[in-house]
Amino acid sequence: MSNRTFTMIKPDAMKNGHAGAIIDRFIKEGFKIVALKMTKLSPEKAGEFYAIHKERPFYGELVEFMSSGPIIAAILEKANAVATFRTLIGATNPAQAAEGTIRKLYATSVGENAVHGSDSDENAIIEGNFFFSGLERVL
Ligand code: CMP
Repeated sequence: MSNRTFTMIKPDAMKNGHAGAIIDRFIKEGFKIVALKMTKLSPEKAGEFYAIHKERPFYGELVEFMSSGPIIAAILEKANAVATFRTLIGATNPAQAAEGTIRKLYATSVGENAVHGSDSDENAIIEGNFFFSGLERVL
């Protein structure tokens, strides 16, 4: 099991002014920031990032939303990072997210769900590499 995961603070949380509180929560929960940047995805780049969901009915909506405004991308480090971070953010659908989780606190719907968290060690590496060069990381 790896000690790194990848996250994005999504356009809804950025627009609603929750980015600072969310990053503060990452740190307070013991995640070390390895890399961090704010950027805005083009529809092409958002489509590439979420290519695994290409056949899903919500893919178009997902790409449109993820390219609708700025996002913050980060690589985070903690023991058993992928699973620990997914517990911290809560279920994909905020209506099903546990009390106190980031999605319960800040997400509005299954589509606009405040944060992304990698679902496996393999995808954490792929997703981190999508956004960050070696120079952009504190190794
Ligand atoms: P994320 O963890 O970023 O990974 C894929 C995203 O697809 C997910 O969060 C949701 O934002 C989005 N998603 C999943 N299911 C649905 C759905 N039924 N309708 C709209 N968006 C969805």
